[in-house]
Amino acid sequence: MQILLGITGGVAAYKSADLARLLVHQGHRVRCVLTEAGARFITPLTLSSLTGEPCYGANPDLGEWRAQPVVEHIDLARWADLVVVAPATADMLGKAANGLAPDLLSTVLLATRAPILWAPAMNTGMWEHPAVQANLARLRSFGHGVVEPGAGLLACGEEGAGKLADIAVIADAIQCHGSPRLPGLTGQRVLITAGPTREDLDPVRTLTNRSTGAMGVELARAFRDAGAAVTLVLGGDLAAPWGVEALRVRSAQEMLAACQAQWGLADGLVAAAAVADQRPEATLPEKAKKTAGPEQLVLVRTPDILATLAAARRPGQWTIGFAAESERHLEHAAAKLRSKGLDAILVNDVQAGRAFGAQANTLTPLTAAGPQTPLGPLPKDQLARAVAQWWAQQLATRQA
Ligand code: CTP
Repeated sequence: MQILLGITGGVAAYKSADLARLLVHQGHRVRCVLTEAGARFITPLTLSSLTGEPCYGANPDLGEWRAQPVVEHIDLARWADLVVVAPATADMLGKAANGLAPDLLSTVLLATRAPILWAPAMNTGMWEHPAVQANLARLRSFGHGVVEPGAGLLACGEEGAGKLADIAVIADAIQCHGSPRLPGLTGQRVLITAGPTREDLDPVRTLTNRSTGAMGVELARAFRDAGAAVTLVLGGDLAAPWGVEALRVRSAQEMLAACQAQWGLADGLVAAAAVADQRPEATLPEKAKKTAGPEQLVLVRTPDILATLAAARRPGQWTIGFAAESERHLEHAAAKLRSKGLDAILVNDVQAGRAFGAQANTLTPLTAAGPQTPLGPLPKDQLARAVAQWWAQQLATRQA
């Protein structure tokens, strides 16, 4: 992608150098536009050195105004596949929301037909001010994306919202904006379960499993990039992707309750969670003391979330499950496909630790029509994209 990175005047401008470097590393072409205030925080030389491209904008002291600024803003506006403003000041948000264009960056923002993404950073009082929020709402109504600032200790010494989002989160939002939407999945509301569940024995002990939730998180990202509105019901500690509604849960029962609350609104379900099959009969309110002699733990079954939702589906709703099998993979998976009443099952060979924590995995899709061409071996992010592409094609065929 050709990304135009606008940098306005805030302390967080020093982080834009890292963002530019990361985007270049990811294979994008990056050109930076500095406002006059931005150029007080970071130099054009830093940015052009990192990007290998000229840096544009107002810095008369450094002779950065280029020869034909009138044409330049149109050239840059056309050049960009995506315009990202990070950090974005309240001033620049206000200018763009109201169609004002007194400098190069604001003229580019007005002239471009490329998608625009804002990563604001400012003092908490400014961020929470109704004028700033109204400007943001206006920009959103133009179709612009916003990477919300995080909360933390700000450069001004205050603690609160307004801290520039992590560079990785901004890069994730950029990936979403730059990804081709897939017919079949665009506009679908997809519920995804991910991660391990945790079944508490007492306040300090838990039964869980070795799943990290990485595959479910990558699926959420891939379905989001394909154009789906994703709700991720997530156990474990991984961060949810940008632009995905994340609901944190702990136990299988909590996961079921969260899913049931969402299922009526969803078009489909991808059940990637490694749900504990058993939980302790009771969770003790106090830490259990050790006793002499053998100790017994009574376990009871947890609800099968996938089977419960599949049984409650309305016409048109689709369900995809996973089958982690160590032998007679397709046979066991076909039995699960039938018994849980699914549209598809993705069969994962877990023998010799190939799935949990492995670098590259293979998934074999199985539908009522039989096994399909295996996807992979691929790293989890690419495998998730392959799953989204495969399922988008299946849905597009159905919708045709
Ligand atoms: N699953 C679920 N709720 C459970 C157990 C499993 O939603 N309580 C879902 C998983 O997310 C996965 C699928 O069911 O999509 C298959 O899980 P797997 O562990 O492979 O199989 P099980 O159905 O649990 O059967 P078994 O353990 O006997 O292989």
